[in-house]
Amino acid sequence: MHNTRILILGANSDIAVATARILAQEGADLWLSSRNLEELEKEAANLRTRYGVDARGVRFDARDFDSHPDFYSGLDPKPDGVVLAFGLLGDQQTSQKDFDQARAVMETNYTGAVCILELVAADFDRRGKGFIVGISSVAGDRGRADNYIYGSSKAGFTAYLSGLRQRLHASGIPVLTVKPGFVATKMTVGKPLPKRLTADPEMVARAIVKGIRKRKNVIYVKPLWRVIMGVITHIPEKVFKKLSL
Ligand SMILES: NC(=O)c1ccc[n+]([C@@H]2O[C@H](COP(=O)([O-])OP(=O)(O)OC[C@H]3O[C@@H](n4cnc5c(N)ncnc54)[C@H](OP(=O)(O)O)[C@@H]3O)[C@@H](O)[C@H]2O)c1
Repeated sequence: MHNTRILILGANSDIAVATARILAQEGADLWLSSRNLEELEKEAANLRTRYGVDARGVRFDARDFDSHPDFYSGLDPKPDGVVLAFGLLGDQQTSQKDFDQARAVMETNYTGAVCILELVAADFDRRGKGFIVGISSVAGDRGRADNYIYGSSKAGFTAYLSGLRQRLHASGIPVLTVKPGFVATKMTVGKPLPKRLTADPEMVARAIVKGIRKRKNVIYVKPLWRVIMGVITHIPEKVFKKLSL
């Protein structure tokens, strides 16, 4: 990863912090971006001190779509790879009653992601180099009653990444879709997560870096999730609608 600069979008996410540390350890320079610049600057300083890389914080709001062109054109030097980690889970019950919250979830996970990645894709396509990683979710593999606002926004993001992968294939730019399964982070704090199906951020980070190196298309961090979602997506609708999965 020497002589590589990677832009992390949503760099204050627990998964992103763990990923940035591995990338920095491997010599990558980093742009760390999200809304909380103070936290980003602290982590950037930590990475500079620990790994001797050039890590810098820069403010980015996925929902402020109009700001994305200036954000991206302001990055100097330009990144050679992008890891999109930002996301919003929200609360399903609240999202059903409060459209503002549902909109925040959809705008963060889908619209904001598409808005910034289209700019990245155009730049990488023009330069004929780069890689893109998007953290989606197994929740996007099938809509379920208890998280379908989040799940449908991730389903859209997964489909978007699939199309982007096909578009950029001819230019040799890999697009990696990451489906982490449950991860113990601030997003899931207080939720009862089954131990066997739950990864920690470092495990996801290792899988992401390996996926980049091997130019993978889609990874399920814990392989058991691929099996589970394979079964879940094959249950007929007339049966599925009666289940409480
Ligand atoms: N945790 C899980 O179980 C799990 C499972 C499957 C998939 N995922 C996905 O994995 C990714 C990372 O998850 P995580 O658990 O590491 O997240 P996390 O610790 O909850 O962090 C999410 C980060 O997203 C950033 N963010 C939120 N809204 C933003 C916006 N409008 N603009 C820019 N940044 C924004 C926040 O940073 P600022 O506050 O600094 O903006 C926050 O630090 C997400 O896409 C999530 O959906 C997580």
